[in-house]
Amino acid sequence: MENIKNKYGIIGDSVEINEIISVVQQVAPTDITVLITGESGTGKDVFAKLIHELSRRGNRPMISVNAGAIPEGIIESELFGHERGAFTGASDSRKGYFELADGGTIFLDEIGELPLATQVKFLRVLETGEYMRVGSSIPRKVDVRIIAATNKELETEVAQGRFRPDLYFRLRSINIKIPPLRDRREDIIEFASEFAKQFSTKNKIHFEGFSPEALNILKNHFWPGNVRELRNFIESLIVIKSGKLIETTDLKSLFKQNQERMNRNLPVFTNKSPDQAERELILRALLEMKADINEMKNILLGQNGTRVDPHYVEAYFDTASNNEDNNYVEPVTKAEKRAIISALERFKGNRRLASHALNISERTLYRKIKEYNLDM
Ligand SMILES: Nc1ncnc2c1ncn2[C@@H]1O[C@H](COP(=O)(O)OP(=O)(O)OP(=O)(O)O)[C@@H](O)[C@H]1O
Ligand SMILES: [Mg+2]
Repeated sequence: MENIKNKYGIIGDSVEINEIISVVQQVAPTDITVLITGESGTGKDVFAKLIHELSRRGNRPMISVNAGAIPEGIIESELFGHERGAFTGASDSRKGYFELADGGTIFLDEIGELPLATQVKFLRVLETGEYMRVGSSIPRKVDVRIIAATNKELETEVAQGRFRPDLYFRLRSINIKIPPLRDRREDIIEFASEFAKQFSTKNKIHFEGFSPEALNILKNHFWPGNVRELRNFIESLIVIKSGKLIETTDLKSLFKQNQERMNRNLPVFTNKSPDQAERELILRALLEMKADINEMKNILLGQNGTRVDPHYVEAYFDTASNNEDNNYVEPVTKAEKRAIISALERFKGNRRLASHALNISERTLYRKIKEYNLDM
């Protein structure tokens, strides 16, 4: 197991991580479909890749497809390909991702976002290995290993009619559940030290280490953005401290800075219909409640720091620069990017809540996140 961790850069020695690695070792050599679930930033991509690499397909491609990022109208032709003339604009036939992944692995991320009609076709590939290009009635066969992932509760999606129960039952037979970082706190120090080492080596910055109290704070933080958030946080600290010992005060001031920035940048709503205005008022009230709850959580956990995602901070200041100049008019794209960053930050990366607050569909938000490179 240590071999695998070293070779593939897997960090963590908690019971949970070791258990996941042993399940991965068991399923990897087979062609069994695997469902990986866990909150955002817990390592779903990391373990999907590990399964692929430990399988007999390891030297073949693994194609990653994010079902949430593809517009609903073209998702089927993206996955299964299409024939010439299948729809307006289809001047040529085209291979889909399944065909491209033949012999390898397909990683279908955000499976909860798959439209119901496509779920039927996906289930068919799972069961028979067969699919049809859009505009064709000839079944084709592929040899692909399928790994699916989601941060949604598929059970809830089924209960609310958004996910087919037959597909859910089929997928959940091998379900690797990655627990949030706060439920395996013993891994936090190893993550922090490894990320610090990797980042400082890569950027040729001397790393002096953390004080024991600072490590303790890291260990007790809530980390709603999980491993990704911890990694960004550590990298920012190293830049800020460049070469000096990282202490409690450094953590606290980074937590605080970001909290202040977040408070200043609550979205402002204007020109809305009474309905919308009312919805937004309720949303704001909920937001405040959520902030209070988080604060209470922090107090209960014996800490008064708040969280920050340094990548967002950088991206934010990047887009918010120039505003000092009175004649400056902010381009729409910049304003949009800034609103998206605020919302993601405000809702701790929860895309559903962020898209509601922004008044755009979740799918559009996924696309924008990709477009502005905010997918961290
Ligand atoms: N066990 C681990 N060992 C090493 N790095 C890890 C581990 N878990 C997560 N990471 C790192 O944390 C970050 C987030 O991981 P990853 O992208 O796999 O999360 P995810 O669950 O797919 O998130 P999302 O739901 O947002 O797609 C990446 O930089 C990844 O390399
Ligand atoms: Mg992922």
